[in-house]
Amino acid sequence: MEPAIFSSLVRLKPEGPDTLVVQLYRGIRSAVLDRRLIAGEALPSSRAAAALLGVGRNTVNAAYDLLVAEGMIEVRPGAQPRVATLDLGKPGGVADPIRLSERALAAMVPRRRGLSEGRLAPGSPDPALFPADAWGGVLRRAARHRQDGAEGYAHFEGLPELRKVLADQLHRHRGLVFTPDDIVVTPGTQASLMIAAATFADPGDSALIESPGYISARATFQAAGLNCMALPVDAQGANPALADFSNARLVYVTPSTQYPTGVRMPVSRRLAVLEAARGADSIVVEDDYDSEFLWEGRGIAALAALPDAGHVVYLGSAAKSLLPGLRIGWIVAPQGSASAIRAVQRRLGLAANVHAQAALAEFMAQGAYRAHIGAISSAYHDRLGIVVSALTGALGDRIKLSRPDGGLQLTALLPEVADDGPLRESLNADGFAVSSLSDYFLDRPEQGLVIGFGTATSRDARRFAEALARHLDS
Ligand SMILES: Cc1ncc(COP(=O)(O)O)c(C=O)c1O
Repeated sequence: MEPAIFSSLVRLKPEGPDTLVVQLYRGIRSAVLDRRLIAGEALPSSRAAAALLGVGRNTVNAAYDLLVAEGMIEVRPGAQPRVATLDLGKPGGVADPIRLSERALAAMVPRRRGLSEGRLAPGSPDPALFPADAWGGVLRRAARHRQDGAEGYAHFEGLPELRKVLADQLHRHRGLVFTPDDIVVTPGTQASLMIAAATFADPGDSALIESPGYISARATFQAAGLNCMALPVDAQGANPALADFSNARLVYVTPSTQYPTGVRMPVSRRLAVLEAARGADSIVVEDDYDSEFLWEGRGIAALAALPDAGHVVYLGSAAKSLLPGLRIGWIVAPQGSASAIRAVQRRLGLAANVHAQAALAEFMAQGAYRAHIGAISSAYHDRLGIVVSALTGALGDRIKLSRPDGGLQLTALLPEVADDGPLRESLNADGFAVSSLSDYFLDRPEQGLVIGFGTATSRDARRFAEALARHLDS
């Protein structure tokens, strides 16, 4: 399509009630639906469209993302986007579009496209290390036993035996002291974040989120109607001196292994976070997602376990130690809030699968869970070493790796890269699911990559280092 024709399809009003992303998305969408744009037709690249329309490239990328998510257009790395083949005549099909909420539209816009599957994906444990046989045994027993009404609607907050064993494990390994009544079992951290947001904040309230930080925490809080503000991260983790706590209802932190930098927050900084939160009457949300894996130094008890910790909501998950797909996480309620958290969890319907809970309870009670973590830790530690030495060997000073204190990913700063988006796209096209470091920031992004090593082999590491060197040279 000629550039002038393309720009006439969409009329953008900078002052309009809709964002430019939504205007552009709707403009192209209706052109496809009334056949002004036809199947297979090429659209301008995001760079060309941005120049034609006088908007930012991110705006075009976000609108294209929405159209891809709806199946309206198709995008392949290195090629122009094309209009998809649609069955426009089908009743109730795309010709009769359903109206989506602003929140759904916002949820569908990733800041940038990226691979979710592929080699070296950040934060991904290795499914091949899952103890399938042992798990099969406990799961079979769980399926055969009656679960005290939880096979119906009882114990929505979690099976009593799992809450009991979690209270014991979290005391031994994370220093937390609480009763099984203070714990709620959920389908993972994201569900826990939604429950925490709905329990402690109202739409329109503000939340401080680490920057760089966990993108899904930001997305979940935004889906709960919260305004997210940056809590800058430095070499000691989240730095409360660099943020304004006064309006923050919630403060999201990952003290045991900052995500994605891998920094373990020292005790002095933990105390500073708690003091800032106390001063502003904010509630701290501690995401302790992969404290099991320690590569440097000694582990530190959870933030919520510090004396006078005050209002800290503690979140844990079996995603890294077992599998993300198990969908099991837990919330330890700050004093006086357990019944509110249970009520919200029930309203939102965010309960975990009963057989998986019973299986996990037995797996933990037998000691198999800790034994499993010990066994997989050494495999992950070796893989970290493989990736670090391949990258430093191939790239030397061209890459600034921060060796993580824990966790399953590491960050690489790339001083010679001005925009890590195109580099990440090229690496994704090569089959590496690494992400752009800049995407994890709410403010002042740095350019680099976030690289997972959970499934890394020597071959992956060598090929990745070669691909990165090649793209940096080109
Ligand atoms: C910072 C952080 N927290 C928690 C999780 C686990 O989330 P879930 O339990 O929803 O799978 C992840 C997974 O990547 C993570 O990166």
